[in-house]
Amino acid sequence: MNIRPVVLVADPLSPVALSSLGSDVEVRHCDGTDRPALLAAVESADALLVRSATRVDAEVLDAAPRLRFIGRAGVGLDNVDVQDATRRGVAVANAPTANVVSAAEMTCALILASARHLLPAGTALRQGSWERSRYTGVELSSKTLGVIGLGRIGTLVAERMAAFGMDIVAHDPHLGNACPDGVKLLTLDELLRRADVITVHLPKTAETTGLIGRAELAAMKPTALLVNVARGGIVDEQALHAALVSGQIAGAALDVFGREPCTESPLFELDNVTPTPHLGASTSEAQDRAGVTVVEAALKALFDQPAGSP
Ligand code: MLT
Repeated sequence: MNIRPVVLVADPLSPVALSSLGSDVEVRHCDGTDRPALLAAVESADALLVRSATRVDAEVLDAAPRLRFIGRAGVGLDNVDVQDATRRGVAVANAPTANVVSAAEMTCALILASARHLLPAGTALRQGSWERSRYTGVELSSKTLGVIGLGRIGTLVAERMAAFGMDIVAHDPHLGNACPDGVKLLTLDELLRRADVITVHLPKTAETTGLIGRAELAAMKPTALLVNVARGGIVDEQALHAALVSGQIAGAALDVFGREPCTESPLFELDNVTPTPHLGASTSEAQDRAGVTVVEAALKALFDQPAGSP
């Protein structure tokens, strides 16, 4: 009997990605946020495919004696214990470029939405209230955009917002002096004090968790807008709430939260907050690219045996 390797899909993947799995593998699905279901399903899995919702940690790896491959259909690997997986001989792959354009476009959309109060104005209109002067916004042209983290996504955001006439400053300790044309590198403190709009594009690590807290918010202009499409927890949500209520900063747009899914937060009650449910990578193009990238890597890991292996 020819036993096909089992690929367990624990977060929703695009239909294009699923069909690219082909018929040489047996595809099974589970809800990776349902811990008991995940632990039971992973026992017979040879490969595991996830997005950001499924946490792949020591408990999952302990429950998966056959596992050879973990694919993360996205950029961030913060929900996968890569070190532990590697130590156990389980290969891990992500899709580092698949959704950078989508994440950058989402960031630009949130910058524009915040500057023009699109969410509260639209919500008020649906409730029958036509309030033109209440929702007077600000122009972005000639304002300063502060990009914290000038990697792939931060760079794309900088390029796009420069087209709106924004001056671009950035903080990135890993960049050295190699800065893209037209971007001025600053210390974090200088950026916080100077920028009119601040956008975060960093991975979540021990160093970046809570990076934007009480002191950093206090350094920003009272007219500043803060956008986070990177990872929840980099911006301290409690400190942000206090800064928005006291008028220390003018507004925020958040696509990511410390705990996800996040359906309740005091931040959601504020008119000057634009919240979205982690949609940065949620376009059909990005999902197809990310899914197909990890499916190809999974098939390679499952079928391309190194010479001499059984
Ligand atoms: C990413 O890290 O690329 C995104 O968070 C992926 C996702 O939306 O699942």
